[in-house]
Amino acid sequence: MPSFQPVRGMRDLIGQEAQAFTYIVTKARKTANLYGFREVITPHVESLDLLSAKSGEEIRQRMFIFKDLGDRQVALRPEFTASIARLVTSNLKNEPKPLRLFSSGTVYRYDEPQRGRYREFWQSNFELIGSDKPEADAEIVLLTNFLMTNLGLKYYAFKIGSIGVIRGILNADGIDEKTQNNVLQLMDKKDLDSALKLVDSEKCRTTLKGLINIKGENWQETIEKMKSYLEYYDEAKIAVENLHLTLNLITESTNIKLTLEPAFARGLEYYTGMIFEVYIPQLDIALGGGGRYDRLIETFGGEPTPAVGCAHGIDRVALALQIQGTTFELTTEKRVVVIPITDAVRTQAFKIAQSLRLSGVAVEFEVMGRKMVKALEDADKRKIGFAVIVGERELKEDAVVLKDLVNRKQKQVTLKNLVEEIKN
Ligand code: HAM
Repeated sequence: MPSFQPVRGMRDLIGQEAQAFTYIVTKARKTANLYGFREVITPHVESLDLLSAKSGEEIRQRMFIFKDLGDRQVALRPEFTASIARLVTSNLKNEPKPLRLFSSGTVYRYDEPQRGRYREFWQSNFELIGSDKPEADAEIVLLTNFLMTNLGLKYYAFKIGSIGVIRGILNADGIDEKTQNNVLQLMDKKDLDSALKLVDSEKCRTTLKGLINIKGENWQETIEKMKSYLEYYDEAKIAVENLHLTLNLITESTNIKLTLEPAFARGLEYYTGMIFEVYIPQLDIALGGGGRYDRLIETFGGEPTPAVGCAHGIDRVALALQIQGTTFELTTEKRVVVIPITDAVRTQAFKIAQSLRLSGVAVEFEVMGRKMVKALEDADKRKIGFAVIVGERELKEDAVVLKDLVNRKQKQVTLKNLVEEIKN
């Protein structure tokens, strides 16, 4: 037999790495709780039509697609947003708005594997559905900021832009949606010359060029310059006003590092308003990103419903923590191994293990049938805190030997006092 490896672009997470993921997901879940987001769990496999509807060419090209045995075209989810939009048009259709929904888990994209880029990766995902207000946009950015700080990241910064402004300009000149999406794809790839070539109208090209070339000292200056280009674009003017309000809310309520980039675009097609990404200086790939998508839910047959959301790449956040030397501690419980000295006391030892667990003590039972010395050596190696040694002599006095493997002390303890002795 060959020796099997994970499929290209997919990883086993072991030890510290697995702990880092648990740590990040736990913090994301706590953030969800603090910001009022409730957790939903959706399937990894969805219909291809749903996943490809508005995700954009780049994601469509990179999905893991297959036919199930019932001849249905399905795919592994490349993100959470489409599944959440589906939920909002079905099971959650009649729920009062706003809805705040949190999810986490693996997603799949056939990207070219490299550092921080995998084919199976983890996201924590937040969607705030039902509000078209800048407050909602600000909440999504602020919760990302909260999570990054709370994880212990020291240096990170936000890049913010508005697809609403760009689409507003393109709409005013009657540019169809497909061309708009192509323009935005090219802008996302920083191929601005090719993007401008798709725009027929001279006036529109000049306005876009103006936006692209804006250099501001700070976001306030940039936004004023943006406004100066948009006098004749009503829709874009509203979008830039919204962006202004959002940025005011964000910067006045917290200390945050951000730059406003008028020509910033993202790969996903469904965005209609504010967009953002978060970076650390040591990596040129985003740790997270998101934005406003006001038309996706109606595309799936729902009522017109404004929405904004974001996802954080857990693999990349773990990498960022490692790069910045951020240490974290998972609350480690005191672990205990229960070792019967002889077969005669095995059942009794088993019962003791069960009753310790019922009292909240984490217990491993010696399942290898090893002699006590060997079992203790193994517990030592795996940094287990205590051994409960069950012997016939002690059991006659309703007691066991409790061995503190860290301090190398041992004493006889009655079964009645065992939990208390371990916990203290
Ligand atoms: P996204 O920017 O495609 O947005 O992905 C979010 C994050 O997932 C990225 O910032 C990055 O950290 C991580 N990520 C993306 N591709 C990879 C990869 N190949 N390997 C490792 N990490 C990766 C979305 O997915 C949107 N659904 C976010 C959103 C929610 N917008 C509105 N609501």
